[in-house]
Amino acid sequence: MYGADGFFLRENPLLHFRTNVAVPLFATAVRRMATRLDSALGFPDPFDVVDLGAGRGELLSALTDVPPRWRLTGVELADADVPYRWLETVPVVQGLLLANEWLDAIPLDVVEDGRLVLVSQDGAESRGAAHTSEWVSRWWPSGRAEIGSSRDLAWAAAVARVTRGAVVAIDYGHTVTSRRPTLTGYRDGRQVRAVPDGSCDLTAHVALDACAAATGAQLITQREALLSLGITATLPPHVDAATLERGSQARELLDPEGLGGFGWLVQPVGVDVGWMNP
Ligand SMILES: C[S@@+](CC[C@H](N)C(=O)[O-])C[C@H]1O[C@@H](n2cnc3c(N)ncnc32)[C@H](O)[C@@H]1O
Repeated sequence: MYGADGFFLRENPLLHFRTNVAVPLFATAVRRMATRLDSALGFPDPFDVVDLGAGRGELLSALTDVPPRWRLTGVELADADVPYRWLETVPVVQGLLLANEWLDAIPLDVVEDGRLVLVSQDGAESRGAAHTSEWVSRWWPSGRAEIGSSRDLAWAAAVARVTRGAVVAIDYGHTVTSRRPTLTGYRDGRQVRAVPDGSCDLTAHVALDACAAATGAQLITQREALLSLGITATLPPHVDAATLERGSQARELLDPEGLGGFGWLVQPVGVDVGWMNP
């Protein structure tokens, strides 16, 4: 996925699957969250808004006319032609560090019957070395396990870059009561077999409870988060076309069976996140 000709360096992710970022109202919600955080921090200069795993910059590019103090930064392994800062690694952040569908794209190992699962370039699986780990014993003790420790580490490393502010990671995931293997591929909008040859996105749900425990983060649903940010699908009667369109976007973002069921990991750093509480 991340080699010289890997899927994510070659392809625009949004051409292969739909994320929050494809819904314009999501940027409205992010702006509202950033505005509340900016105020809670006392309007620092600069106030960072950093998008980690920024794709081609779609989310930040939708944040037009922000205060001049706001410093927008995309962090991404692929290039993009954007009028704001674009880095390969996470800078020191004072403000909001946001990662939408980034953790699910962090590679992980899989273990089955106490042995690592090996996979060849055509997707054929075989059994490798014996594997035991504290992570598996604690978070996924039985069945085929997708070992989320690489995501816990990535999340904790992101949190460590923030001096004051908040880190929010948004992803599809599971917790101890809904744990299940999910590794799969995506190409051209369709789910495909997970073949590690750079031809498709490889993704697995995030063990969100394990990530939350790694830093003491809050875990809420996207529906709860967006409702607390004032996003609503309830419309008064007789609305104009633009309001109707916003209502339909809100319904997509809040749908508990779809994007609304995503998890939001929320980690405040040196600030109270009353502004985010559902
Ligand atoms: C599933 S896509 C999501 C893109 C976008 N955030 C969205 O919601 O549409 C994941 C993105 O994370 C990027 N990515 C993965 N690991 C990264 C890392 N360590 N540093 C920067 N970007 C990374 C990938 O290149 C890819 O563009």
